[in-house]
Amino acid sequence: MKNQLKLSMAVLAACVTFSAIAADAPKSMRGLDVAAPDPVAADKAYVGARPGTQKPIARTFSTQPPVIPHSIENFDEINLETNQCMDCHSAATYQKKKAPKIGDSHFVARDGAKLDEGSAARYNCTQCHVPQVDAPPLVDNAFQGDVKKADAKKPVKKN
Ligand code: HEC
Ligand code: HEC
Repeated sequence: MKNQLKLSMAVLAACVTFSAIAADAPKSMRGLDVAAPDPVAADKAYVGARPGTQKPIARTFSTQPPVIPHSIENFDEINLETNQCMDCHSAATYQKKKAPKIGDSHFVARDGAKLDEGSAARYNCTQCHVPQVDAPPLVDNAFQGDVKKADAKKPVKKN
């Protein structure tokens, strides 16, 4: 008898807990029910105009690949034959094009050897450098990077 009472108490407790969870069903960050399929995200236009018409965007932390401040929509896609980014950013062209030269770390081979031109491992620029869209953060946050260090023109030296 005692055991039966214990069992029914446990069942009752489980029911109460379950209905409490159901009433406060978890939602995804976009406000949808977690079980609902994610809708296709709306296409957002990249911000930024022609290169040479805007300032670099402040870096958020010291080892961040700087984000691309200018539009890249009219450039050809990077492939085996062409890399338009290098028309302006390579060691050979950057001065003439008044563009920042690719980072110092791009002139280092995998074995640590110094290179005269960018390493092939850095060929796919947009794998690390991304253009900008106007997208507010999904959740409020108070993130602060080491902005001061990160904004130093040259990559930060290790202390
Ligand atoms: C026509 C020349 C040109 C081309 C092509 C070009 N850029 Fe740029 N880029 C610039 C100039 C000039 C700046 C300086 C900021 C500005 O004026 O937009 C710049 C800035 C940048 C920066 C910011 C650097 C920093 O220190 O913050 C990045 C990253 C960058 N470009 C990456 C790219 C990538 C990746 C591509 C190819 C998809 C590319 N650029 C193609 C001229 C060019
Ligand atoms: C593996 C990631 C990666 C790839 C690929 C890459 N970069 Fe970078 N880039 C970085 C990082 C990280 C920095 C920050 C400075 C550094 O490490 O040299 C940087 C810095 C830069 C800068 C600013 C240089 C400065 O003086 O601070 C330019 C311009 C740039 N990259 C252009 C390019 C272009 C153009 C390509 C393609 C040919 C490219 N990057 C490929 C990660 C990358």
